[in-house]
Amino acid sequence: MASGRGSNALALLEENQKLSHIDVALIITDKPQAGVIEIAKLFSKDCIIIEKKDATKEQHEREIQKVLDQYEIDWIFLAGYMRILSKDFIQNFYDANIQQSRIINIHPSLLPHYRGLNAYERAYNDHSPFTGISVHFVDAGMDTGKILVQEMFEASKIQSLEEFKDMGLKLEHKVYPIVLRNLAKIQKEGHL
Ligand code: GRF
Repeated sequence: MASGRGSNALALLEENQKLSHIDVALIITDKPQAGVIEIAKLFSKDCIIIEKKDATKEQHEREIQKVLDQYEIDWIFLAGYMRILSKDFIQNFYDANIQQSRIINIHPSLLPHYRGLNAYERAYNDHSPFTGISVHFVDAGMDTGKILVQEMFEASKIQSLEEFKDMGLKLEHKVYPIVLRNLAKIQKEGHL
């Protein structure tokens, strides 16, 4: 699920091509102009646009859930999806084996630092000497779920915000596919 440019979705779709035991079956976006729509086309993947418009959060999520059910989706990777999911929605993906919901997110900071929006900008403006990225399970809070992986980069020599974001994004595109690959491996081995 993505709301924007879709560079992480692209990284996941590229990785997916190398994996035989799982399939990224569907992209969902809430934004009709999102770059991720074109990326889905490149990979011949279905991309369903589910705008919120005047719907309540509950109605919007119900629409999303309907589509997820149709496609028999069992894991969700959030890749720049700009909405907080409700407790009920998250609960629908709860897996008692792992005691987590099967929803994963990537966040551009070393959580718990810089939760929420514009994390790179805030870390850059604070002159953080190092920063990084986190992949975590999703819970009902904002970027508060259990952390799966974190990777950091040295930021003290970086000259501009653009460079800072580029470093971070490169790391995101490296780490998120690894999470997908590992998930596929664990699933293949029958642990999930
Ligand atoms: C990424 O920085 C991701 O960490 C954050 O939103 C941004 C999405 O970028 N959650 P993209 O749409 O994947 O290019």
